[in-house]
Order: sequence, then C-alpha cells, then structure tokens
Amino acid sequence: MCGIVGAVAQRNIVSVLIEGLRRLEYRGYDSCGVAVLANGEPRRARSVARVADLDEQVRDTKLAGETGIAHTRWATHGAPVTDNAHPIFSRDTLAIVHNGIIENYEPLREMLRGKGYEFVSQTDTEVIAHLIHSLYRGDLFAAVRETVRQLHGAYAIAVLHKDQPHTVVGARQGSPLVVGLGDGENFLASDALALAGSTDRFIFLEEGDVCELKLDGVRIVDRDGEPAPREVRQVAAYGGAVELGPYRHFMQKEIFEQPRAISDTIPQADAFDPSLFGDDAPKVFGKIDSLLILACGTSYYSGLTAKYWLESIAKIPTQVEIASEYRYRDSVPNPNALVVVISQSGETADTLAALKHAQSLGHVHTLSVCNVGTSAMVRQTEFTFLTHAGREIGVASTKAFTTQLVALFVLALTLARIRGHLSDAQESSYLKQLRHLPAALNSVLALEPQIIAWSEEFSRKENALFLGRGLHYPIALEGALKLKEISYIHAEAYPAGELKHGPLALVTEAMPVVTVAPNDALLEKLKSNIQEVRARGGQLYVFADSDTRIVNAEGLHVIRMPEHYGLLSPILHVVPLQLLAYHTACARGTDVDKPRNLAKSVTVE
Ligand code: G6P
Repeated sequence: MCGIVGAVAQRNIVSVLIEGLRRLEYRGYDSCGVAVLANGEPRRARSVARVADLDEQVRDTKLAGETGIAHTRWATHGAPVTDNAHPIFSRDTLAIVHNGIIENYEPLREMLRGKGYEFVSQTDTEVIAHLIHSLYRGDLFAAVRETVRQLHGAYAIAVLHKDQPHTVVGARQGSPLVVGLGDGENFLASDALALAGSTDRFIFLEEGDVCELKLDGVRIVDRDGEPAPREVRQVAAYGGAVELGPYRHFMQKEIFEQPRAISDTIPQADAFDPSLFGDDAPKVFGKIDSLLILACGTSYYSGLTAKYWLESIAKIPTQVEIASEYRYRDSVPNPNALVVVISQSGETADTLAALKHAQSLGHVHTLSVCNVGTSAMVRQTEFTFLTHAGREIGVASTKAFTTQLVALFVLALTLARIRGHLSDAQESSYLKQLRHLPAALNSVLALEPQIIAWSEEFSRKENALFLGRGLHYPIALEGALKLKEISYIHAEAYPAGELKHGPLALVTEAMPVVTVAPNDALLEKLKSNIQEVRARGGQLYVFADSDTRIVNAEGLHVIRMPEHYGLLSPILHVVPLQLLAYHTACARGTDVDKPRNLAKSVTVE
C-alpha cells in the first residue's frame, strides 16, 4: 500500500529517498515518485513502473536536493497514471505526498475551484495541496495545521515548500507516520522500516499530530496545537536488509521459515500464565466472559480457527468478525468481553477502526495479537501477545498466519487454565505438542516435491474448490485465499457438509476439489463428501492424515501428511496449501511476492 519517505539534510538526499521507497516496495504499489527542492524550486520525477525505473530517471536527469519527499502509490482516487502519481504540486510552489483517503474532497475541490485553483489530477491529494497553498502565509507548519483541521478521513502527509528550504512538514490521522532522528538531519516515513538505512531512533507520531522537520530538530504538536513531547524509541531490529538466500521468492522463503518462526513464538514458560499477555492480564482474564475477535484477510481466518479452540478447550463463547463489517453495524457491546484484534502489521486501517469502534461502545479490555511491536495496534490495546514471525515480505501471508495460530492456541490454553478447564497433565501434554510443532512442520515441508507435481495440473485450471470441516474449514478458506491471491485462479472454500447445498453443481472434471482430511471426529462425514464429488466425475486432491485409509484411486489423488496432530492439526494442514498456491503461481508465471492490485499492509479503508 502507499508509502511515504521524507528527509532534510545537508547532503543530496535523493538516494536516501529512493532507498526508502525500495524498502517499502514489498507492500505493493502501482506508481511512485520523488520531489526535492533544487535551487529553491520543487522538482520531481514520477513513474508508473517500478522504483528501479524512478531511480534511473533521477540519475538521468541528475535530480538532486537536500530537502525531499517521496512516495509509492496504490491507486484509490484516479487510475495509476503519471498525473495521479505523487508528489502532487500546487502551482509549482509546494509538493505533497499522501497516504489515506480524504472523504470530503469533493466539497473542498469545489470551494478551491471557486478560488481559481485548477486540478490536473483525479486524486483527493491535490485538494490538500491547493488547500495548504491557499492558507500559506509564510509559515508552512501553520498552513498544514490549519489545513488538516478541514480534512475528514484518513491521512498521513509530508509537504515541502519552495520558500522553506530544509523543512518538511508532516501530519497524521488514521494512517501511520514516524519521524526518524539523525545527526544534523531528520527523516519522515510511513514505516520505520523505510528509514532503517539512515537511523535507528524513531518517534511514532500519534493521531492528530503535526510535525516539522528541520536540520537541527523536530517540532511536534498535537491536534489541539499544543507542544507534544513524544518518546524517542531505539529500534535496532529494523536494520539489515532481508535477503532472499537460496529461495526464488520471499513467499517460498517465508513458508520455509515457519518452523523457526513458530519455535520463536512459543512461550518459554512451563505454564500457560496470563502474564504472558501483560502485567494486568492475571486480574482481567479471570473476569472476562466472552471474546470478540476482529481482523481482516488471513488474520481473520486465524481468528476463525481460534474460535474452535477457545470454545472447545476454554469453553468461552467467542465471536469472530471481519473488522470492516463490525465497525459499521449496530452491535451489542459487552464490557466483560475481551476484544482481540489480530494483525500481522498492526496498521490495517479497518482493524484499527474496528478496535476504536469497540472501545467507543464501552469495551474496555483489549488484546492485540500482532507481529510488529511498535505498531499502532499494539500501542492502542491493553494487552499484547507478539508473534515472532520476523519480517514478512510476501504480500500473501504465510508465517504470520501460523504464528498467529500458535499465539491464539496459547490464549485458549491460558483461558482454559484460568477457568478451570485444564488439568496439569493436559497442560504439560499440550506444551509438549507445541514444542514438537517445528519438527512436525519440517516433515510437512518435505512434501514439497509431491505438491509441485500437483501444481503443474492446477496451473492449467481456472477454478478450484476447497473443502474442510470443523477446525479445518478456516484452513480450506485460507488455502483458497492463497491460491486466488497469487495464481489468480478463482478459488472458493466450503465447509464440506455444505457441498450438496450448491457448490456440487460446479463439480465437473475441470474443477479440482482440494480437501483437507485430518483423522478427526468428522473424517467419516468427510469421506462421504469425497464420494459425492467422485460420483460426479470430480477430481479430488486430498491432504490426508497418515491413518485415514484414503488412498489413490481413479479421480482421487492423495498426499499423506506425516503425522496426525490433534487440535493443532490446522497449523500443519495449512502449509501444503500454501505450497500448492505458491508452486501453481510459479507455474503460471505470476508476480508471486507482489500480486496484482494487492497490498501488504492496507492502510486505507
Ligand atoms: C492484506 C494482506 C493480507 C493480510 C491482510 C490483513 O490484505 O495482503 O495478507 O492478511 O491485509 O493484514 P494484517 O496486517 O492486519 O494481518
């Protein structure tokens, strides 16, 4: 999704800005650009291709300057064409980059047209540019503060003005923005990762903050214009580029990193104690009577899986809702519920808004399960459980998902213990199973060659159906999502019992049906569903547990999972589905790590 980088220094900062954009590339974008003050004039380069193309342009044109802003754009208002690419200028006087969506841009545009401003792009961003221009009276900081008061919606912006050398002004509301502190130079970005090459000292701006970067310091005010001292945090973990190593894509690398990521996420402690979630959790967890889980995309599916664990092990009523739906419907708040937000990035706009909505309704107890310790979500929740997946670059989430599952399993056991549903013997048995997971996963990863053989056939299909039952229905959903995201094959998932209520009509020889078949209480039911598909000439691709006695036959292709894993089985069964999607996408030659139209971190509604 959109990315911002800005800098003021006493050296040419174009390479810093381009490097920052490179670090944000993995999030997905469709155009990019950079603007600097060169001899007192704003100059820019923009591209609808990759950052590498932008880099070539700035080298060819020798674009250089000591004050600059840069952007990767993921189109919302207006197509991904050069005129809509940021930085956007107002009357060749000021330049702006913007993440987010301005909801009242239409009345503002009419008002500005009335004042004689001409619009050359279809972006909502151009409204902000002209508004700042119209309010500028020699003080950019003041003009931006006055401007943001008139904006409705979400934004993070960075602005420079021809009359204010060595000054970049930023503001945020609903979209992240972070200041990077250097020696005699300062930076701004939508994600600290963008600045990892330049500094390890960051200030994470808060909602409504406006900041002014100069060479010798940074001024920050809150939404009321009051000086806002913000904590400076040293975050060394952002350093160092992520290397691809022997892998073809980051997605493949991240699939293979799962044993390590899971082992890093499993708590070291020998008991499931609420203090794993925060100091006050022992007091609060004993009082909660239900859970409300809010998330988007793959993170939503980890919540759906967790519902089975939470209700069966901890016997606690659990509701799981898509964040973007929850925030806009009337719901009945329960102050004794624990609201759990799940997010890889911790910056997903809809999940953040759903959290805020829940809090506004009177929900007081909130927990984030998140992969980024410095994210807005972690800062805005009472309790946190950090997953240790490490940086995930591939847009399609893999290791973040399985580590979320581990975190949520730990939550289920913790609540089970506190609610008296977990004996000491059960606790140590679950701990043992968790600790064995990385080894079990390694055996699943060894199935890759067999999955590659299947992917050749899948790559020639245009549709696929995924079936699962119980705990594995969300895994079927995740398998279908992976396949559609990166191979562009239309894929749908159904709880297998629903097959005969509709999707069976689609089953022909041309429709592969992928089935997750663990040896659990629902196996016999699932076998009947398998027969329903076979009887109609459908081609079944089954990931079966070792002891299920489902064997290869006409129309029935079986890959045997190395071991049966009881309640933790979803964590193992999702991995071959990730590999199937990955190798099918490779066979179709798609851009696996950056699938078309998608973004890693969706910071707009
Ligand atoms: C985007 C990503 C998905 C991710 C979803 C939620 O759609 O492409 O991979 O699952 O956002 O992101 P989050 O960071 O909140 O987990």
